[in-house]
Amino acid sequence: MGMTYIFLILTVFYVVVKSQLKPEVSMAPTFNLVYNGDTINLTCNHSTGTVKWLINDEVQEQDNKIWSIGPVSAKDSGNYQCENNGQKSDNFEISVLEYFPPATLSINSGEPVINLEGAVVLELQVEESLMGWSCWVYKGGEVKKIKLKKNLTIDHTEITFQTYRLRDTIAIYWCSGETDLRSTSITIKTSERMVLMEILPGPAFLGDELSLRCVVTGTDQISRAIFYKDDQQINDSALSFYHINNVTESNKGKYRCEATYRFKGSTSGKSNTGVSEYQELIVAALPLKADLTATAYMTCSCSGCPTGTSYRWYYKQHNQKWLPKGSGDSYTHAMSAGSYACRGVWKVGRSALSNIHHSDVDTQGTNMPLIIIFVIIVLGVILVIGAIILYRKRTGEEDIYEDMPMSTVKSKDGGDGGYEELRKKHGTGSEGEYDTLNTTPAEAAGGEKAEAAGGEKAGGERTKR
Ligand SMILES: *[C@@H]1O[C@H](CO)[C@@H](O)[C@H](O)[C@H]1NC(C)=O
Ligand SMILES: *[C@@H]1O[C@H](CO)[C@@H](O)[C@H](O)[C@H]1NC(C)=O
Ligand SMILES: *[C@@H]1O[C@H](CO)[C@@H](O)[C@H](O)[C@H]1NC(C)=O
Ligand SMILES: *[C@@H]1O[C@H](CO)[C@@H](O)[C@H](O)[C@H]1NC(C)=O
Ligand SMILES: *[C@@H]1O[C@H](CO)[C@@H](O)[C@H](O)[C@H]1NC(C)=O
Repeated sequence: MGMTYIFLILTVFYVVVKSQLKPEVSMAPTFNLVYNGDTINLTCNHSTGTVKWLINDEVQEQDNKIWSIGPVSAKDSGNYQCENNGQKSDNFEISVLEYFPPATLSINSGEPVINLEGAVVLELQVEESLMGWSCWVYKGGEVKKIKLKKNLTIDHTEITFQTYRLRDTIAIYWCSGETDLRSTSITIKTSERMVLMEILPGPAFLGDELSLRCVVTGTDQISRAIFYKDDQQINDSALSFYHINNVTESNKGKYRCEATYRFKGSTSGKSNTGVSEYQELIVAALPLKADLTATAYMTCSCSGCPTGTSYRWYYKQHNQKWLPKGSGDSYTHAMSAGSYACRGVWKVGRSALSNIHHSDVDTQGTNMPLIIIFVIIVLGVILVIGAIILYRKRTGEEDIYEDMPMSTVKSKDGGDGGYEELRKKHGTGSEGEYDTLNTTPAEAAGGEKAEAAGGEKAGGERTKR
């Protein structure tokens, strides 16, 4: 009798264990390709209670069912497994691509950290056409589709849209096109505090220059800001930012700031003090980077880029946005004053922007209407030729001044004269598009952008499936 009882218990126990499904790692958002800077949630499905996470068989400190990793970089690549009730999941391989996806999603206006119920304007830029592209948001554990208005995508390479008011603590936005093509992903966080600390929406790369900013909702009158890194005070000043001019590994950590501020028109004149939430700065090695060499003309190369890589050129004037400036291995057009850079582009990726080449053509000259410069030069040439003809007629000395007209023109202009400049100006005018390579949010808000958006919300969210 007793034996049967024990046998029954063992059978039930066996059945319970057997029916318990093996844990399984799943990823959200479900990116087919994971790029530098993505943030993802890994879930240990079919698990109860605490979970053990492993990367390449090494136990990690993480023990929640959902593990939020990111912004990821190459060093996060590996075989992920979770272990629950003594059972291990199969390997879940994550291989982080060391380059940027083929399209850019960036913050056009707004900040990576916003108030609860706040929104941002995002901007999507693709190389070819927005046809077939849609955007997505992952928040509160659900993926929702953001529909883009059709007539704003056809024949366009960029679009801006406003997000819905955000009620979740974190939301991940990205866009995808046909055949696996997708954009960078952008992480927006909310905070219920008065004081916010603004940090990059992705990883900082070694050698980058960046600022952490202390922002107070509803006022810009900040009289003092104290910055903390991993609970240690690192700066105390009247400036509301903390500048890092060359990011190194040692800069990674959790930052927050404490602001002393007052509201405009506050009658009491009393100051308030508040502290932000922690924001983590992740430091990653710079992904594949293009290399610009400037000799007689500029050439672009990228040693690690795959075969079939083509090169795109970008140009910007002081404090403005990068504008596309054609393609090709070399840049042989005339140059005007400003900064030049290039990068490698292939089907599923793009390199980081190259080193920057500054062209120091006299900026004053390029500001003057080019047609006037051209007219002045032509008049100068006519005058010089006229003077020489007159001089020759009077003196009869023929040989000495023979080459003078040409050399006078050249030295005056320091180059090919006004004609090249003029032609190039026309070339730029026809390229109405541009590209934000700057992922820093503050500068990303550009006035010209309104055209593509029509100043309107371009889409609405809809639950997927
Ligand atoms: C794993 O769990 C998540 C969250 O509960 C769910 O969204 C997802 O569909 C599950 N995946 C699988 C493969 O069961
Ligand atoms: C990722 O998982 C965490 C922990 O459950 C959750 O708080 C967060 O909202 C998830 N991320 C997104 C973007 O939904
Ligand atoms: C796009 O279509 C909407 C109506 O669906 C219209 O109001 C709007 O003017 C159109 N915009 C453009 C740029 O054609
Ligand atoms: C720290 O504060 C001082 C003023 O007290 C300021 O001059 C300096 O630029 C700040 N340092 C950084 C790294 O922002
Ligand atoms: C940044 O720091 C690294 C390491 O100290 C150094 O090798 C590099 O030249 C620096 N870069 C700049 C732009 O100062």
